[in-house]
Amino acid sequence: MKWLAVPALIMATGAAITTPAWSGPEAIPGVANPARARQNWILSCQGCHRADATGTPQTTPAMAGVVARFLRVPGGREYLVRVPGVATAALSDADLAEVVNWSLMRFDPANVPADFKPYTPTEVGQLRLKPLRAEATTVRAGMVAGFGRGNKQQK
Ligand code: HEC
Repeated sequence: MKWLAVPALIMATGAAITTPAWSGPEAIPGVANPARARQNWILSCQGCHRADATGTPQTTPAMAGVVARFLRVPGGREYLVRVPGVATAALSDADLAEVVNWSLMRFDPANVPADFKPYTPTEVGQLRLKPLRAEATTVRAGMVAGFGRGNKQQK
């Protein structure tokens, strides 16, 4: 009976559909060493952003469940590296690219676009040459205002 084959196919391919490619600890694109990325997050980022990236009221916005939305608005990809806490971190370009890639997948996988290309050390090195300063707040507000437009994955 033909219809029986349909559920069987769904079962066979279900894992591939529902489990993102980066779900395994070793399989995050652009993250050569997840343990090192986590350690760098702890040392350089979580003081403001907290271990779970929920942020600090009044000072540091939450990244959890929202940060990858920047990848969906114009200039957002650049913003995520030019933001002062990232651009000026005391990390090499390679370690910084790794921790940014890691944090996107770790804290907001649902909003990472399917065609996301991980940051490379070269790209990060270029972007952090132009760190945002006082204007970060204004630039950020413009992008957050754009989250509602053309975003199919509203939460
Ligand atoms: C001194 C506190 C501080 C540290 C340390 C810090 N950040 Fe941030 N981060 C902020 C603040 C505040 C913002 C909001 C933008 C702004 O005003 O700079 C932000 C914004 C961001 C953003 C953009 C998301 C958004 O909502 O604006 C990313 C991504 C980010 N930080 C990642 C990191 C990473 C990765 C590290 C470690 C390498 C780090 N930050 C270190 C305070 C910090």
